[in-house]
Amino acid sequence: MSKHQSPADIATLIEAACRQRDGAYAIHSGFAVGAALETADGRVFTGCNVENDSYGLSICAERVAIFKAVSEGCREFHRMVVVATPLASPCGACRQVMSQFFGDEVEIIAVDAGNAESHKFWTMNELLPDRFRFER
Ligand code: THU
Repeated sequence: MSKHQSPADIATLIEAACRQRDGAYAIHSGFAVGAALETADGRVFTGCNVENDSYGLSICAERVAIFKAVSEGCREFHRMVVVATPLASPCGACRQVMSQFFGDEVEIIAVDAGNAESHKFWTMNELLPDRFRFER
């Protein structure tokens, strides 16, 4: 895909996150979450939460999307949409993983799957100020 692809519009990201949410493996909580992550060059990676009978091994939709993107070589990101009902504010573990890869101004948008009018918006810096990260 071209490095200069134009950014996905927000409706496209919400749609992609909803599609992932439909496939969430939320066998214990029943709380399905979908995420769509847009890279700086306009690609979109998606994720859903994947739970495990060993509960602590469950992983959130946000981290699945980030790890898929990073494993495909992406290192720069533009924004992420997270869809759940009710809307989900990313957990602390996801905020730390996001902060490894997201610049201060990367946008995180939480959307209620049942009502796109119900949403919240943060920058990375608002979600996790004073992040821990080695300078490199
Ligand atoms: N979960 C996410 O995938 N993302 C969030 O932002 C909040 C929580 C998942 C983890 C677990 O599978 C379920 O939702 C209930 O916590």
